[in-house]
Amino acid sequence: MKAVVLVGGEGTRLRPLTLSTPKQMLPIVDLPMIVRVINHLATYGIEEIILSLGYRPEAFVSLLPEGRHGSFTIKHAVETEPLGTAGAIRFAADKGGIDTTFVAVNGDVLSDLDISKLIEFHIAHKAQATLSLTPVDDPSAYGVVVTDSNSQVLSFIEKPSRETASSNWINAGTYVLEPEVLERIQPGRAVSIEREIFPAVVNEGGLYAFPSDAYWLDTGTPSCLLRANMDLIDGTRGGPPHPNAREHSPGIWLHGSSIIKGELIPPCFVGDGAVVEKGAILERSVVGRGVHVQQNVKASNCVLLEKSSIGEGTSIRDSIIGERAFLGAGSVISGLSVVGCDAILEPGTHLQSGRVP
Ligand code: GDD
Ligand code: MG
Repeated sequence: MKAVVLVGGEGTRLRPLTLSTPKQMLPIVDLPMIVRVINHLATYGIEEIILSLGYRPEAFVSLLPEGRHGSFTIKHAVETEPLGTAGAIRFAADKGGIDTTFVAVNGDVLSDLDISKLIEFHIAHKAQATLSLTPVDDPSAYGVVVTDSNSQVLSFIEKPSRETASSNWINAGTYVLEPEVLERIQPGRAVSIEREIFPAVVNEGGLYAFPSDAYWLDTGTPSCLLRANMDLIDGTRGGPPHPNAREHSPGIWLHGSSIIKGELIPPCFVGDGAVVEKGAILERSVVGRGVHVQQNVKASNCVLLEKSSIGEGTSIRDSIIGERAFLGAGSVISGLSVVGCDAILEPGTHLQSGRVP
C-alpha cells in the first residue's frame, strides 16, 4: 500500500527552531522525527511513501532522496505554494499515481497505532474515509470527532472552543482513504481536509473512526516536543530511545562514544561525540550528538540539540536549545524557553519562557 506523509507546514508554533529546520526534521532523541514516522509506516508493510513537501523541502530531499530505502520507495511531491492538508494529499496522490485505497498521515505525529488494524477496520466498514482517534484532556487544539455506536462519524469539528468540544476523542492524524475522496478536492487552491472534506464526507455517511489508546503525541508545540523526547528516555513509549543506544546503567542511554566527567541522573540520553565536563549535573535530559556541556552546568528536563555548546555554570530547566546554539557562561534558562539554531547568548543571559531570536 502507498502512504502520503504530510510534512509541508511551516511549524510556526515551534519557532525559532523551525525558522531553519522544518518541524519533522527536528530530532527526537537524536533521530529526525520523519525517520521515526517512516519507520513506523514501514513496520506495517507500507511500500511506497510520498513525502508531501512545501516549507523548506531541501532538508527532506537530502536526507531521504527519491528512490529505494530498504523495504520502501520514497517519492517527493513539492508544492510551489501551500495547498492545505487536503490539497497537499491530492497533489501528492497525483504525483504517486494513487488509484486505490491508501494511507495518509500528519508527519508531525508520533504514534504506536496499529495501522494494519486501521486498514482492516476501514475495509470492514466499507468506508470512504477512516480516521484514527485518540483521547486527549484538552480537545480544543485538535479535530474533535463524535461517532455513533457503529463508529460512523456524526460530526467533525476542527479546533472548537474548549466549552463547545463535545468529545475528548480527537482526530489522531492517520487516515485510510478511498481514491474517490481525492475527486472532492478542488485542485489548484488550498483546501483543508479537516474543515472542508471530512465534514462533507460526514454528511454522506462515509466517514468512520477507529479509536485507539496506543501511544500518541502531536509534536507541534515546545511542550509537546520536549515531551516526545522525555517519553522515550523515561520509558513511557517503550523500547530503546534511539535504535542504536545502549543502556549504560539503569535509565542512562548512550549512543556512540561520548566523554562524561560530570553526573547523569536518570533518565538521560547522551549522543555520539558529546562531552559533559566535570561538575556538570544533567537530570532527565537529552544531549544530542556533538554537544559540549561545560563545567558546573545544571540541566533538568532539557533537550540540547546537536552541537550546541552550554557555557560554564549555566542552569537550564524545562527548555530546548537548538543546533549549534552557543550559551554564554552563567546563563539561566527556564520555563519552556526555546533557543534557535546557531543563536548566541551573551554570558549571564536570563531567559524565562523566552524565545531567541
Ligand atoms: N504539504 C503540506 N502542505 N503539508 C501541510 C500543509 C500544507 O499546506 N499544511 C500543514 N501541513 C502538514 C504539517 O506539516 C503537519 O505535518 C500536518 O500537515 C498537520 O498540520 P499541523 O499544522 O500540524 O496541524 P495541527 O496539528 O494543528 O492539526 C492537525 O493534526 C491534529 C492531530 O495531530 C489536524 O489534522 C487535527 O484535526 C488533528 O487533530
Ligand atoms: Mg500537528
